[in-house]
Amino acid sequence: MRVMTLLGSPRTAGNTARVLTWVEEALEAAGHTVNRHWIGDYAVAGCRECHACKEGTVELCSIYDDGISLLRDIVAADLLILAAPVFCWGFPGPLKTVLDRMYCLADDIDSENYTTQLTGKPIGLVVTAGGPEKDNADLLVTGYKAMADYMKAVAAGALVIPNCTGPESLDASVAARARTFGQQLAATGQ
Ligand SMILES: Cc1cc2nc3c(=O)[nH]c(=O)nc-3n(C[C@H](O)[C@H](O)[C@H](O)COP(=O)(O)O)c2cc1C
Repeated sequence: MRVMTLLGSPRTAGNTARVLTWVEEALEAAGHTVNRHWIGDYAVAGCRECHACKEGTVELCSIYDDGISLLRDIVAADLLILAAPVFCWGFPGPLKTVLDRMYCLADDIDSENYTTQLTGKPIGLVVTAGGPEKDNADLLVTGYKAMADYMKAVAAGALVIPNCTGPESLDASVAARARTFGQQLAATGQ
């Protein structure tokens, strides 16, 4: 299975990166190919709501920036894992921008049986937070589930690590939870 992970933290060696690495290691140990993308490597502009994607006048999106290659990779992956720190009770801006741009992957949204290019695709979520899970990190899980549902994808599971201080404080129990989560996601493609 081709696994695309999308690290949505501005830090490549922060809490989210550390937890995501354990998840990725479990997937690789199960024989899957993991390709990590870091949001900081991509300049993605916000959706302009021009609806060119719905009118069929563009292949994916009218904004020809780095978002196009990210969207292509998302469509090509067998499993997508989004990884994000909680920023102001939501996804960090640059990752949220990519999620908004995924709107172009849904076709005729006004019809009852619209299709999307993510139909049936499993999507997982990793969240780290400085604060608690309740009324905080869980807000991202709610948004992720709603988005997966809207895109007719499969919400394959979410791992939330609350009360993070620094990456060095992420202990063996967090590593074990992350590896178990990776094993569970690995099984979605078998
Ligand atoms: C701009 C900013 C906003 C944040 N907002 C929240 C928040 O709303 N809730 C929370 O629990 N933690 C918040 N945090 C803390 C981060 O979610 C937490 O430290 C996270 O684990 C950082 O992950 P990283 O090291 O991968 O960037 C915020 C941190 C920053 C820098």
